[in-house]
Amino acid sequence: MNIKVDFENVQISEKEIMKLDKSIKEFATDLENRSSKEDDFVGWLHLPTNYDKEEFERIKVAAKKIQENSDVFLVIGIGGSYLGARAVIESLSHTFSNLQSKDKRKTPQILYVGNNLSPNYLTDLLDIISDKEISLNVISKSGTTTEPAIAFRVLKEFVEQKYGEKEAKNRIFVTTDKNKGALKNLANEMNYETFVVPDNVGGRYSVLTAVGLLPIAVAGINIDELMEGARFAEEKYADKSLKYNECYRYAAIRNLLYRTGKTVEILANYEPKMHYIVEWWKQLYGESEGKEGKGIFPTGMDFTTDLHSLGQYVQEGKRNLMETVLEIVEPQSDITIKADEDNVDGLNFLAGKTLDYVNKKAMEGTIEAHVTGEVPNIKISLERLDAKTLGHLIYFFEKSCAISGMILGVNPFNQPGVEEYKKNMFRLLEKPGY
Ligand code: PA5
Repeated sequence: MNIKVDFENVQISEKEIMKLDKSIKEFATDLENRSSKEDDFVGWLHLPTNYDKEEFERIKVAAKKIQENSDVFLVIGIGGSYLGARAVIESLSHTFSNLQSKDKRKTPQILYVGNNLSPNYLTDLLDIISDKEISLNVISKSGTTTEPAIAFRVLKEFVEQKYGEKEAKNRIFVTTDKNKGALKNLANEMNYETFVVPDNVGGRYSVLTAVGLLPIAVAGINIDELMEGARFAEEKYADKSLKYNECYRYAAIRNLLYRTGKTVEILANYEPKMHYIVEWWKQLYGESEGKEGKGIFPTGMDFTTDLHSLGQYVQEGKRNLMETVLEIVEPQSDITIKADEDNVDGLNFLAGKTLDYVNKKAMEGTIEAHVTGEVPNIKISLERLDAKTLGHLIYFFEKSCAISGMILGVNPFNQPGVEEYKKNMFRLLEKPGY
């Protein structure tokens, strides 16, 4: 489950890095002190050890029931209420799992909804699920977010019409606040099974709560192993010293680069399954740091795909970029390139080599080119793509994000700017009170 971070290509001296040692120690102590407070947002810090064990078992039971009675499982949520689950599920599932037969896949198809306001999306979804056995999980910490609330209103009606109100209760699962919110009230009224988003865990830090764990378990992924990886990381990154703690070093170095004008960070993967890891990371860092006129702009790229679209910009465009690359050391599968007698395509120089070997050489060549082109590079190497390693990676990014925001001088746990568009939208929609 190990992860190694390589900072060789950032060209920042150890002396510069260690200047942040004292303040990072203070930030780490501050996080520690706040982690047990119910009215703060640092509950994620010890979540891998300090989680609701009774609920965890209930998640497994619900997941089994859903696997048995459903062809399709709908995950209704937006932002932190679905990105983490999707990141883990897509990383650890067959790339084309929704095209596999149920016999092969063994778990329901997972479809995500309530993360946009497109009528086409919802209409097409209703079309595709019309003859399928369905269960759904509506996930919203506030219980009032417009996108999932509208999708749930439509899909609740669909499930009730299909199964009747009594059976619908066996197929609707709600993840929301422990006590309050419109969704909690509805769940109480309808007697739906509910799971809790803890008060002291914000949306984008919530993947290791029921928010992420129920969908991940439905997808057949071992959530014990995911938590084990996160626990390993919790212990590993408790080391207060910036010299040895790679999680703190990542936070420190990206801030030092930011101070030299590197205001955009690209998180790049060489594995399409990790596309949503990048999407999850974008939200985590973007919402945590982008405030008060400050913050590194987090963007993502899927390589080698995007080398053929954005590669030119990265190599020679505005020099405000830094890049962090996700590498998987051992691929789950590989393909050896065969020799061809005619060699018309000129590829015989690769005969006997594997696709992973070619992918790795593309990565090494790209890092070299980007570093030469003044794009500093950090490489995060995951031993393999499995639940334990992802648990580790999630925790690594969460903790470094909190520390990074504190170095930047912002509150990494609020998102005041997100309300701005909502106010305008509600005014234009003539919502009472706006
Ligand atoms: O990180 C956050 O807090 C947000 O991105 C939320 O996750 C997102 O807005 C969805 O909110 P809710 O879970 O309340 O529906």
